[in-house]
Amino acid sequence: MTDFSRTRALFQLPDGVIYLDGNSLGALPVAVKARVADMIGAEWGKELIRGWNSAGWMTMPRRIGDRVGKLIGAPPGTVVMGDTLSIKLYQALAAALVLNPGRRVILTDNGNFPSDLYMAQGLIRTLGDGLELRVLDPDAVADAIDCSVAVLMLTEVDYRTGRLHDMAALTREAHTQGALTVWDLAHSAGALPVDVTSANVDFAVGCTYKYLNGGPGAPAFIHVAPRHADVALPALSGWMGHAAPFAFDLDYRAGAGIERMRVGTPPIIALAALDAALDVWDGVSLQDVRAASIALSELFISEVERRCPSLVLASPRSPAARGSQVSFRHAEGYAIMRAMIDRGVIGDFRAPDTLRFGFTPLYLGEEDVRRAVEIMDDVVGNRRWDRPEYRRKELVT
Ligand SMILES: Cc1ncc(COP(=O)(O)O)c(C=O)c1O
Repeated sequence: MTDFSRTRALFQLPDGVIYLDGNSLGALPVAVKARVADMIGAEWGKELIRGWNSAGWMTMPRRIGDRVGKLIGAPPGTVVMGDTLSIKLYQALAAALVLNPGRRVILTDNGNFPSDLYMAQGLIRTLGDGLELRVLDPDAVADAIDCSVAVLMLTEVDYRTGRLHDMAALTREAHTQGALTVWDLAHSAGALPVDVTSANVDFAVGCTYKYLNGGPGAPAFIHVAPRHADVALPALSGWMGHAAPFAFDLDYRAGAGIERMRVGTPPIIALAALDAALDVWDGVSLQDVRAASIALSELFISEVERRCPSLVLASPRSPAARGSQVSFRHAEGYAIMRAMIDRGVIGDFRAPDTLRFGFTPLYLGEEDVRRAVEIMDDVVGNRRWDRPEYRRKELVT
């Protein structure tokens, strides 16, 4: 059994804050501070450029990739870190299209994260070639997979509502129709048990600043199924993905396996932070995390519906159909969220009217959830949100 009081003690959270936004930016694992300070002082400060060899910087993207791989069911040597998720999505999608020539459709849904759609649109502009991005309602995707589809590109957990796709079933259907799959696991990795191997996915990508607590702008990951790893061709063919980066050849030769998905110089300080953040997963079972997350989110929904009936549930009611977040709608959602944040309950807002709350059992308990809803009740019931400063839109919502 996972000891969540032990994991809670591994995080630093400000007094008086109930943090319900770990689905957007995870909290700070205490050990990150010392690890980053050590990396800067002892490695960068003393080793200087020798650190690429002596401190193992060059192999960090693979070593940490293996650590992330364990959390998503990927075998060693099939995950590499670097860049941002948008970049890794582009790498995966472009490589998948090359592996499925002759087909012209990228199939996705309108619950996908907009950046994934934008990256696909940019790739289509670059490639031309009659490619089409087909965007459907999430429920319509399964029936729309046919022999025109080159790539099924989906995010497993919808960033707005938390709706969870059946990754294994959709991948099976895609393969039956001869399509490849690219799965975005941004809201899945560290949130629920994920097994890219048993689901037989072709490519998976994700970020590490949400449930993996790697910090703002933490590097992304990409997984390529072993059957594709030595044939998939990266569109962003940077020197770090070259077979011999320090041979400085004038022509690109793809590196072996997952190495080829690297692009440029890896962000070592950020990787050091992520490395320390991943230590909190030692001794943690994702099945326990899932059970605790469901208990917290069920409690949250029943308390909100009992105390704040003007908020309308935007997430699937069945916990089996959700990731680890719950969303509610309210016409004044933005101002309500700002007023809650002012009172220490931090969630976030997605246009036009959605309040999002993430559940992260590693550092969140039942008492936090009950107290958060008490504060929400005060904010909504007493119209504490109804002030001009809470309506003023900030740059990041
Ligand atoms: C599902 C999903 N995909 C893609 C992205 C974009 O990631 P990045 O900004 O790291 O490129 C996000 C960002 O939150 C996301 O939630």
